[in-house]
Amino acid sequence: MPELIPVLNKNDIDNMVTRVASKISSDYQDHELILIGVLKGAFVFLSDLVRHLSIPVKLDFIRVCSHGSGVSSSGNIRLTKEIEMDVNNKDVLLVEDIVDTGLTLSYIIDYLKAFNPRTVKVCALIDKHERRNANIKVDYACHKAAEGFLVGYGLDYNENYRNLPCIYHLKL
Ligand code: IMP
Repeated sequence: MPELIPVLNKNDIDNMVTRVASKISSDYQDHELILIGVLKGAFVFLSDLVRHLSIPVKLDFIRVCSHGSGVSSSGNIRLTKEIEMDVNNKDVLLVEDIVDTGLTLSYIIDYLKAFNPRTVKVCALIDKHERRNANIKVDYACHKAAEGFLVGYGLDYNENYRNLPCIYHLKL
């Protein structure tokens, strides 16, 4: 049976989302900000993040598939949902669940740059920096983690556990 070891509880998550939302609100004051959520994993984080922001924002979504199944990124990334909003000359903030190797984000940033946004920055719930394999910067990280596979609060393992309200380390 897989074991779920608690890593971040509801209170930890609320504190870190509040802190990052306050920094984003202050950095983007007087800017027209478009948040682009990376589906599916970021859906819970994004919904909490937007409700903690004190600035007006617009929302869009993008979807890519990078994990076949299992715990490591295949590096084989496929865009399965394009953005729908015009981001030309706009400030864009990509909202991602976990940045691990960084290959997925690097692919998304390259895709977005073709639409000429004014700026593209990255906000991640979890920054797993130790396995970084792409030259990308996580501008806003709620939590930094070492290696280990995390689930819950939108994060999945083979599409399971997304609905859990807290974040766990999955031991297979
Ligand atoms: P990367 O391309 O290696 O940075 O992987 C990014 C994607 O892999 C994330 O958007 C997640 O969907 C998935 N991923 C990486 N690590 C984890 C994890 O610990 N739990 C759940 N999903 C993960």
